[in-house]
Amino acid sequence: MRVIIEKTAAQAELRTARIMADMIRSKPQAVLGLATGGTPVNVYQELVRQHQEEDLDFSGIKTFNLDEYVGLGPKHPQSFRFFMQENLFDHVNIDPAQTHVPDGRALDFDGHCRHYEQRIAEAGGIDLQLLGIGVDGHIAFNEPGSSLGSRTRLKTLAGETIRQNEKYFPEGEQVPRLALTMGVGTILESRSCLLLATGSHKASAIRSMVEGPVTAQITASALQLHREVTVIVDEAAGGWLERRDYYADVEACHQLLETGQLRALGIGN
Ligand code: GLP
Repeated sequence: MRVIIEKTAAQAELRTARIMADMIRSKPQAVLGLATGGTPVNVYQELVRQHQEEDLDFSGIKTFNLDEYVGLGPKHPQSFRFFMQENLFDHVNIDPAQTHVPDGRALDFDGHCRHYEQRIAEAGGIDLQLLGIGVDGHIAFNEPGSSLGSRTRLKTLAGETIRQNEKYFPEGEQVPRLALTMGVGTILESRSCLLLATGSHKASAIRSMVEGPVTAQITASALQLHREVTVIVDEAAGGWLERRDYYADVEACHQLLETGQLRALGIGN
């Protein structure tokens, strides 16, 4: 796991957007896994800016979102499909037919989820999966206790998740109790993962994910088993990491290597 600690949330968001933009530029037919929630909003805003001002080209890109609330159609303002249209898809030159979000109105849950997995496989798998993290350490909607081998499926939301997501719903409107979500196993098959977390309310989850044991109680900790994971946090979300000095040191060495300052690393002295 590569852990990058940026000073501010804005810097963490920008760094995340740049990694995604680099993927789009280096692989114009890339398959991106996308996330919703408050955390990635500014990441998408930066990608839209790069599309408008720097010709970032989405025409060959395919996307698969992590999850969707059961019962919400694409026109519902709190559905993740609506979120994606508003925050990204409507503002870039992506082919709408190549954007995939589980269908919250599907009633054949198992069939729909199997089909979703099939579409990911047919696309050649996900090149880069963007992730956020829940305060209880979940990724997508893989609540504590989810199998670390799980696939896309129907999931009952935990009380804590419902409470956390209430802020996105108008007062008095109920947060759905069920969701369709990629599984931990599905996410682990992505060729690379990029997890962004900002704010002190994520500090405990980040510490458990990065430095705690691999456990189904913190489904994000399964990312420790993946070979290509980058975690980007601001200082608030990284505040509980015990080894943060080491992570900063790794970044400093990376920087020196990338800029060819080998002598500073004791090479060729
Ligand atoms: C939900 C989503 C996750 C997201 C998490 C954190 O549970 N299913 O994908 O990472 O919320 O959301 P936020 O970014 O709003 O804190």
